[in-house]
Amino acid sequence: MTKIATFDDWIDLFRQWQRDIGFDSSLIPDYPFDAIYEDPPISEVEFGEFAGVKKWERILEVPTQEMRDALLHLIVYQGDTEFASSEQQRHLVRTAPTSYDLQCLLRVMREEMRHGWQMSHLLVTHFGNSGKLEARKLLERRAYEGSRLLGAFNEPVDHWLDFFTYTTFIDRDGKYQLTMLRHSAFAPLARSMGPMLKEEAFHLFTGLSGLSRILKTGKIPTEIIQKYLNKWIPTAYDLFGKDQSTSAIRFYRWGLKGRFDEDPTAAPPEDLERLNEEARSHYVREIQEIIRGLNQLIPEDRTQLYVPDVKFNRRIGEFADQTFGVDGNRLTVEEHQRHLQEVLPGAQDHEVLQAIFREGSWITGVKNAG
Ligand SMILES: [Fe+2]
Ligand SMILES: [Fe+2]
Repeated sequence: MTKIATFDDWIDLFRQWQRDIGFDSSLIPDYPFDAIYEDPPISEVEFGEFAGVKKWERILEVPTQEMRDALLHLIVYQGDTEFASSEQQRHLVRTAPTSYDLQCLLRVMREEMRHGWQMSHLLVTHFGNSGKLEARKLLERRAYEGSRLLGAFNEPVDHWLDFFTYTTFIDRDGKYQLTMLRHSAFAPLARSMGPMLKEEAFHLFTGLSGLSRILKTGKIPTEIIQKYLNKWIPTAYDLFGKDQSTSAIRFYRWGLKGRFDEDPTAAPPEDLERLNEEARSHYVREIQEIIRGLNQLIPEDRTQLYVPDVKFNRRIGEFADQTFGVDGNRLTVEEHQRHLQEVLPGAQDHEVLQAIFREGSWITGVKNAG
């Protein structure tokens, strides 16, 4: 195994990783991969036990080893998702419905790679040997081998409807995580987030405009689109972490990860035990608005889309591995088995979709683009 001494060594591994996942880097010939740090919006620790002291620029300024380990963990998990999403999306380059969509996909992929690059830069620059080791491991796990750290990032993204659903709902979780880390007391991490968030906004736009353009043609039945919402949204709920999470409490008390709506003038959280649930409920409200907007594009006599209940098909938290349906009702084990077959995408949906894709014109074109 190659040992990383400098960031240049890591860059060599990154190029190898691109080749290994089958990403043709000649498709993005002039893209300057770089770590980008902005000036911090706020220079003092914003919340928690260290509120008011100057944010830490160097890892040795972070008061305890436990806190340094927690920071390493946060950066590793963030970085893992970035490389994983490129692995999930790598096949789609061959099947883009329009040249505009291909350009959007390549932009999303190169920016996810840059986000992973940014997290690796933090690890290699600040975290000594363990950071170098973790930065290497970010390029060794694989979404398509199921070895990425979080469930959503080991799921296959099979086609472009899947991609648009993924970018609308999974990248949106990314927006929440980045926003919470933007308040971090570790200044280089906080300063990484602004530029990443700007790029993330484009991913959300790509997903939502893709779904809108699909709905405008009316070629893909909304029942099938709903199944993809049912596939991804519960995995996005899981990404917010356990309820009553002790690590979320520690991240907050130590000033490392804030709330989504963190604001130095706001009251401190009423209940530290509910930090993850609180972030998730912001997300739920936001996607309810998104679905409401999408439903405007569906003729009234057709099936409307809805947000699956937060209890449905969860792998993490108090509802994990239980038999709730998409509407939140509890089912028997047999009913639940049957229900999953009905509400999640299956082989038959796949066939219907492939036929629709072959026919073409299932998504509206984009004027003056591409
Ligand atoms: Fe990202
Ligand atoms: Fe993204």
